[in-house]
Amino acid sequence: MFVTSYDSQATARSAGSGGGDSSRPWTELASGYERARAKEDSLDRLVEWPAQRDLLGDVDGLSVLDAGCGNGGKVAELVRQGGAVASVGVDIGGSFITAPPAGLELIQGDLSNLASVPGLADRWFDRIVFLQSFGYAKDPVGVLQTARRMLAEGGFILLTRTQPVRYAIERAEQNGTSLGEEYFSTASFSYRHQGWNEQINLTKRPYTMSDLLNIFSAAGLWIETAVEPQMPEEARQRYPHKQAVLNKYLGILMFKLRPLPS
Ligand SMILES: C[S@@+](CC[C@H](N)C(=O)[O-])C[C@H]1O[C@@H](n2cnc3c(N)ncnc32)[C@H](O)[C@@H]1O
Repeated sequence: MFVTSYDSQATARSAGSGGGDSSRPWTELASGYERARAKEDSLDRLVEWPAQRDLLGDVDGLSVLDAGCGNGGKVAELVRQGGAVASVGVDIGGSFITAPPAGLELIQGDLSNLASVPGLADRWFDRIVFLQSFGYAKDPVGVLQTARRMLAEGGFILLTRTQPVRYAIERAEQNGTSLGEEYFSTASFSYRHQGWNEQINLTKRPYTMSDLLNIFSAAGLWIETAVEPQMPEEARQRYPHKQAVLNKYLGILMFKLRPLPS
């Protein structure tokens, strides 16, 4: 079975476009994704979550909105271990951990319409995170503008996204083309993540670094910090096959974004 979704990449070229039913593939992909993420050698465990946690800093007493939260395990950890309060995880898939801690609601909903998700109206958050979920926003600038309005005083957005060079390298190998041709291509492409579920086909739209930066700017945000996390030395030694993945594909980008004064 092949299921298609639209990973609407926000760009000057494509902002406001895209769409499609993005829930269906994720209903199918959720279990495979969470299984892969839970493995002891997953890059999420070794590199991404530690770096995300580090950028979030002390969340004691702060409210967190996790947009595209997967099963909600990360935001649950922020509440249980970090002391976050009045927090919410939203995901289109709706396969959540059982028994979330007090102070956390997990809601099935679309991050493309955060303001209309039941339970989010008139709420503000100290931290709003899009962890590997922003690519599913139908109108990326609009989604960040909404998130910006939902930030409490002094709050920030943490957004992570796959390094776009990664997809360009893969496609250049598959198509016998060059890195530059694929990096600057505007054509949507099919993508199957081998570690999650090879049967599910996601349709993705390419993006460049400039596209990302322009989206932040158009949404009225400035980048306080950008990080490209890598494995600690001990993990490099222990999991050389994962270091090889990073050596080839670079990893993911993380941005701590704050509202520009309006
Ligand atoms: C790569 S996973 C990341 C999950 C989690 N943030 C993490 O870091 O482990 C992408 C997530 O985005 C969710 N997603 C995809 N489209 C969505 C949408 N339109 N609204 C809300 N969530 C969506 C998927 O269901 C999936 O859980």
